[in-house]
Parts: sequence; structure tokens; C-alpha cells
Amino acid sequence: MHHFHYIDNDLYCEETSVSEIAQKVCTPFYLYSYATLHQHFRVFDDAFGHLKHLTCFSMKSNSNLAVVRLFALEGGGVDIVSGGELYRALKVGVDPKKIVYSGVGKKTEDIEYALTSGILMFNAESPQEILKLNEVAGRLGKKANLALRVNPDVDPITHPYISTGLKQNKFGIDINEALEQYIIAKNLKNLDVRGVACHIGSQLTQVSPFVDTIEKLKGLINSLEGSGIRIDYLDLGGGLGITYDTEAPPLPREYAAAVHDVLGATDLTLILEPGRVIMGNAGILVTRVLYTKTTNDRTFFIVDAGMNDLIRPSLYNSFHAIQPVRLSGRSKVTADIVGPICESGDFFARERETTVFEPGELLAVMSAGAYCYSMSSNYNSRPRACEVMAKGNRYYVIRARETYEDLVRGESIPDFML
Ligand code: LLP
Repeated sequence: MHHFHYIDNDLYCEETSVSEIAQKVCTPFYLYSYATLHQHFRVFDDAFGHLKHLTCFSMKSNSNLAVVRLFALEGGGVDIVSGGELYRALKVGVDPKKIVYSGVGKKTEDIEYALTSGILMFNAESPQEILKLNEVAGRLGKKANLALRVNPDVDPITHPYISTGLKQNKFGIDINEALEQYIIAKNLKNLDVRGVACHIGSQLTQVSPFVDTIEKLKGLINSLEGSGIRIDYLDLGGGLGITYDTEAPPLPREYAAAVHDVLGATDLTLILEPGRVIMGNAGILVTRVLYTKTTNDRTFFIVDAGMNDLIRPSLYNSFHAIQPVRLSGRSKVTADIVGPICESGDFFARERETTVFEPGELLAVMSAGAYCYSMSSNYNSRPRACEVMAKGNRYYVIRARETYEDLVRGESIPDFML
């Protein structure tokens, strides 16, 4: 469900015309629908309403301040993976007691920052990290709330680059070694063992991998109790998929019902870390066709956004629907939609059946709210796009387009070359 729709053949975000925004802010730009974000958060959070839970939005999917603020106002927490994400979250008033910190490579200074900020919990991913957390907490005279991120060795049935809960993945602590590590952690005096965490992958389109994971974690929680370690939090990570093309992932309420069924009556507080399911279909990337080119082999539509703006097709060969901002009724053609970057991997669609586009025309790359702006770069010295949020018939620039000055900020020429 989202609020991008056509009125008289023109694409609107809620009640705001996409082409009018393009005229004001230029292209390419990201456009998010406030109503969609709000609704997605509410639907997800409410789906777990019958269970004690905390929804911690996964900031890596989109860390714009306005976006994070929206969820904070709804009572949400955040899942962070860096000091930078913590900084953003605190800046927009996220309650530190609703922040969980995952990641295989937490730096000492980031651990210090999170400890002094009083976050809810660290999800430790290795035996060495457990010791590091204990040491840093001791040095600061604090106690760190701890969960171990457990690797349950469950196949999430998704793209290999975004599967994280298989034993060959770098994430988490092998479920078979977890009990031993919990006992070590329990005996460290600057740690307070509170939770069990996992995140098995992203863009899951079935509930069965979640259910299999919870079954395994329940077994672990029982053994922990047997060893006198009481767990308060069960962090299930994120991972619920969305429709990019023809996928039919479970709805949040179906996911929640499956979680409930397998968990049964419980005193545990669930932590959920959704990213894509909330953000993905709440945003689009708007780009303009620069040129069209037909060779002996193919037709290319060359647009002004590139893989630096949205890398998912290049990186994962992922599908994003691409629609004209104004429906033209022109004939169809099979074409590649490509960016201006000097790489053959700079494409948004390959051999896609699409309407014929003309130079100057605006296109919308759909499902671009999650892992699109947040993975963008300055490759080819391209300033990053601006981000806009529409609400009703108004829109707000929530991040200005970068300038050439922004591109060179922080760079300097050594004296000997002056
Ligand atoms: N929690 C943890 C610990 C994670 O690592 C992730 C995502 C999430 C939660 C949120 O997962 P979600 O609900 O969004 O599936 N760049 C890739 C996705 C990478 C996901 C990384 N971790 C993409 O564009 O598909």
C-alpha cells in the first residue's frame, strides 16, 4: 500500500504533483510520502499490539532526520549500527532507552558513545566483542545491557548478499556456542545479560524461516533458564519483505500471528527491527530522461540518476518498477534504462518492456524508500540527490541537494604542492 497514484495521467504523491516538485527542486530527487510512512509504521506496530514489544526502525534503510523523527513521534525506537546512526537518532529525540545497537564491528569510541548515551541494549556478535563491551563499560563505570546476536543457521531464502543467518555468514554467534558465551558474559561484572537477538536476512517473502528461527531461539532460551540466565528481551531483527515486482510477502499481521503462534504465552518483550517493510514502498526516485539511443542491439533510455544514487539493481540485480510521471499512451519497446556513470553496471533496468520515453520526460523509479538514498555515494563526483517529503498537498525538502562545495568539503592540498 502506498500513496503514489495517477490523477488525470499525472503521478501524484498524496495530493502533490510529482512534476511540480521536479520543476522546483530539479532532478534526480527522492520523494517520500508521509502518509505511507505513518501508515506502514502504525500497521506494523499495531500488528504486534497484543504482545509486549518495541518497534525499533532499522535506520540503515533510511536515516534521514525527518524520517527517523516521524517514527520517534509514533513512539518507535531505532536499531543502529554505528555512532553516526546513534548521533542522528539522538538528534531527533529518539529515547535512548529505545535504541538497540547491532553490527559485527563496533568501534571502541562508538561503544563509549552508546554507553554514555544510555542505550537499551548492545547486540554482541562475537566472543571478543563481549569482552570489549565489558572492558569499556568497566572503564566508564557503567553496566552494559547485553544480548547476544545468535546465528541460528536458517536459510532466509533471499538474495545471498542479504542473507545473514546462515553459518557461513559473518554475523552473530553460532547458536551451538551461544550457551557457553552467555555463561561467560553472565560472569563479567560490567555486563547485564538481558536478551537474545537475531536477524536472519532481508527481503524475506515467507514466514517459515522466521518460525524456524524462533523455534531454535526458544530452545536456547530454555537452556539459558536452566543455567540461571533469565532473558527479558527477544530481538527478532528485521527482514520482512515487500512487493517490488510480483512477490507476495506475508503482511505484518500474518508475520505477527506466526510469531505469536510459535512463541506461545510469554513474558518476553519482543524487539522488532523493520526497515524495508516500512520504508521501501514509501519512496520513489524521480529522474529525467536525458537521451534515447538505439543501437543495432538495443534501445537505451539514458536518465540523469545513476548507480551512485540508487545502486540496488547494479549490486543485487534487483528489480525496481519504472513508471512515467506522465502517462503518455505511447507504444511499448524493450529497452535498457541506464544512468550516466562510466560503468556498464550502471543500469536501473535491462531488457525491460516499457513505454517509449522521450528526452526531457520524468520517470519514477518505484520502491526506492529503503536502501536507496542511504546507499548512495558521490561516485563520478556527482552531488547526492535531494530528498523531499510530501504530506497532503504540501512538500518539504528534507535534505538539500549536495553542492560542488559539499563534494570537496574536508579535502586539502598538501603544502608541498601549493
Ligand atoms: N536488523 C539488522 C541487524 C539488520 O542488519 C537489518 C538489515 C535490519 C534489521 C533491517 O532489515 P529489513 O527489515 O530492512 O529487511 N542493502 C540491502 C539490504 C541490507 C539489509 C541489511 N540489514 C538491500 O538493498 O536490499
